[in-house]
Amino acid sequence: FSRLKTSLVGQYRFISVMPENLVKKAKKLCAYAAVDSNLDLSKHRIIGIGSGSTVVYVAERVGQLPNKDRLVCIPTGFQSKQLILANGLNLGSIEEYPEIDIDFDGADEIDSELNCIKGGGACLLLEKLVADCSKQFILVADDRKNTGILGKHWTQGVPIEVVPSAYTKISRQLTVLGGKPTVRPGAPAKAGPVITDNGNFIIDCDFGEIPSNKLQALNDKIVAMVGVVETGLFVHMAEKAYIGNSDGTVTIV
Ligand code: 5RP
Repeated sequence: FSRLKTSLVGQYRFISVMPENLVKKAKKLCAYAAVDSNLDLSKHRIIGIGSGSTVVYVAERVGQLPNKDRLVCIPTGFQSKQLILANGLNLGSIEEYPEIDIDFDGADEIDSELNCIKGGGACLLLEKLVADCSKQFILVADDRKNTGILGKHWTQGVPIEVVPSAYTKISRQLTVLGGKPTVRPGAPAKAGPVITDNGNFIIDCDFGEIPSNKLQALNDKIVAMVGVVETGLFVHMAEKAYIGNSDGTVTIV
């Protein structure tokens, strides 16, 4: 059964009763469908490759294209860079290519308006930067992530990347805002907090369910806190989501 690690290392909460082999199948299905239906080599040259276990199949599918040499792939973190290289794709950088034709990425939760929470893999800063630089931003996720409303199912809350020396101050401010913040531990936890690719900490802040009309205001309040680098709230950024279902079908939202 698939599990979601909670903020306490060693403890897990079950988020789904979908067996792991069906989850993998659903991830592969939606990733392949998203690439096959959206990537057009006659007009797309620069593509964003997101992070996480679903994007593994995006990179795999792009790597199978006969004309893949025409593409330049922009990574959203260390894992993404490794995926690009492992699939024989050309690696570029966001500094060289700040205009991206299309970006494929995973999500932790997606609501009915295609807003999403990202950052389960602590890559949210570069993921948001690459999505922001992309003409098209396509989500790929298994159906456990299609929750209708954000904050329902990703029990750790909204990931927030913060400058290390600001984590205590920001945790207090998040509590005042009504959240329950937890600094994400590394593995093993005694080694200290998770350190992002940018040398920062992640605070997972549980705000409960967040209605779609409150997301932008919440995001803006968090980003305004000195020491916050970025949040994992992606509001009105995605154009489409490909959801892999456990019955072997794909839903396009
Ligand atoms: C990493 C992310 C991932 O895209 C997100 O956590 C989804 O991952 P997965 O496809 O493994 O469920 O935002 O920061």
